[in-house]
Amino acid sequence: MTSATSDNESKASYTDPVYREALARFRELLSEARASGEPEPTAMTLATAAADGRISARIVLLKAVDERGFVFYTNYESAKAEQLTAHANAALCILWKMLHDVVQVRVEGAVEKIAAAESDTYFASRQRDSQIGAWASRQSQTLRNRTDLEARIAEFEQRFAGGDVPRPPHWGGYRLRPDMIELWFGQRARLHERLRYERVGGAWGKRLLQP
Ligand SMILES: Cc1cc2nc3c(=O)[nH]c(=O)nc-3n(C[C@H](O)[C@H](O)[C@H](O)COP(=O)(O)O)c2cc1C
Repeated sequence: MTSATSDNESKASYTDPVYREALARFRELLSEARASGEPEPTAMTLATAAADGRISARIVLLKAVDERGFVFYTNYESAKAEQLTAHANAALCILWKMLHDVVQVRVEGAVEKIAAAESDTYFASRQRDSQIGAWASRQSQTLRNRTDLEARIAEFEQRFAGGDVPRPPHWGGYRLRPDMIELWFGQRARLHERLRYERVGGAWGKRLLQP
């Protein structure tokens, strides 16, 4: 639930210098990862919890990051979406093997849907095949056979033939607003370094953790 107080707290934390430092370091590492030949630099494990407490994890792609948080796109009727409705909190984990003897980034926080207009803009930038796929796939539901999915793809190709493909209402982005960002640096012959940034109360702090 988003209360006025938590909104104000989050907005205040955007300008917190320690939070800004954490984000700046993340973005620097991301651009190094992109340049390093890392095969999927934006792939991140997303862990969510079901209503009964069972945890699921899967890979999603990081599509935007700014002071408001980390954005990924998915089906709003998928298993993960159902879990995010039950528990609007999640954890992300990223591995960059090519960087500095391995870097791991862990991020935790509250998750919310992004604005429809933001999802529209991103959806419009996607390849047409992916746009049709977003209409055709009932993500996480049972698929009797591949032919059923191909038939749905053909159906939507026909429906949108000759025009733009609009964003399906069941597809869009989520933003994880971090309250914890941990950078883990591998050190080949020594102990690894863990640097944890976290928001405690209204303010961000940072500390080293034992590896
Ligand atoms: C490299 C990679 C990138 C992926 N990116 C996404 C993504 O951005 N969004 C998404 O919904 N699923 C993505 N997937 C598929 C998910 O891992 C997962 O199978 C799907 O979202 C269904 O998850 P759920 O049933 O837990 O909701 C990706 C899979 C891989 C291997």
